Amino acid sequence: MSRQVLIDRYILDHTSPEEDYLNELDRETHRKVLHPRMLSGHLQGQILSMISCMIRPKHILEIGTFTGYSALCLAKGLVGGGKLHTIEIDDELHTLAQKYFLQSGMANYIVQHTGDARNIIPTINESFELVFIDADKREYCDYYHLIFDHIPVGGFLLADNVLWDGKVVEPEAASEDQTRGILEFNDLVQNDPRVRNVILPVRDGIMLVQKVAE
Ligand SMILES: C[S@@+](CC[C@H](N)C(=O)[O-])C[C@H]1O[C@@H](n2cnc3c(N)ncnc32)[C@H](O)[C@@H]1O
Repeated sequence: MSRQVLIDRYILDHTSPEEDYLNELDRETHRKVLHPRMLSGHLQGQILSMISCMIRPKHILEIGTFTGYSALCLAKGLVGGGKLHTIEIDDELHTLAQKYFLQSGMANYIVQHTGDARNIIPTINESFELVFIDADKREYCDYYHLIFDHIPVGGFLLADNVLWDGKVVEPEAASEDQTRGILEFNDLVQNDPRVRNVILPVRDGIMLVQKVAE
C-alpha cells in the first residue's frame, strides 16, 4: 500500500465519523447515479461542515446540489431560522437529494431550486454569508460575478475543484474548456482587490475567499 493511501486512511481515522444518513447517501449515489465521484465525500464534507460551523451563516447559497451531500454538510452551520438555498440544473436529481434532506431532519432549512444557476441567482433576493460554488467549471466566473453583490463584506465564498486534477499547471490542458474556466476563475479571484483568498489543498482544491470590500 502506498504511503499516500496510508496517510489518507490515517486522516479519515482521525476525523469525526460520517453520519449514517451521509454514508447511506454516498452509497446510494454510487449505486444509482452517473459520475458518483462528484459527491464531496467524508473528508471534504467534514471540512465544509466545520467551516460553516465557524461562520454560523444565516443564509447559505450552494451552486451545484448533485445528490445533496455537500448541502447537508454546509447546512449544519446555519444559525436558528437560517436557510440554505441550493441550485441544481438536472431535475432528475431532485428526488434523491430531497429524500436525504428529509432523512437528516434538515429539510425545513433547505430550499431546492431546479434550473440553471445563472438564471436562478438573480431571482433569489437574499444576502449570503457563505456561498459554495461546485457546478459547471466553465461557468465559475459567471457565478462569481452574479453572486458577488449578494455577499456582505466579511462573508465567505468557497469554490471546489480549483486544482482540476492538477491540470491547472499543465500547459497542454489550458486549451480544454473546463480547465480554462478554472484558470480564469482562479486568476479572477487572485486579481480581485475586494477579496482575500487561499487555496486549501484538500482533495481537488478548494478556493476559500473572504469579501473584504464592496
Ligand atoms: C460536482 S457536482 C456537485 C456536487 C455536490 N456539491 C457535492 O459535493 O455533493 C456538480 C453539479 O452541478 C450541476 N450543474 C452544472 N451546471 C449547472 C448550472 N449551470 N446550474 C446549476 N447546476 C449546475 C450538475 O448537474 C452537477 O449535479
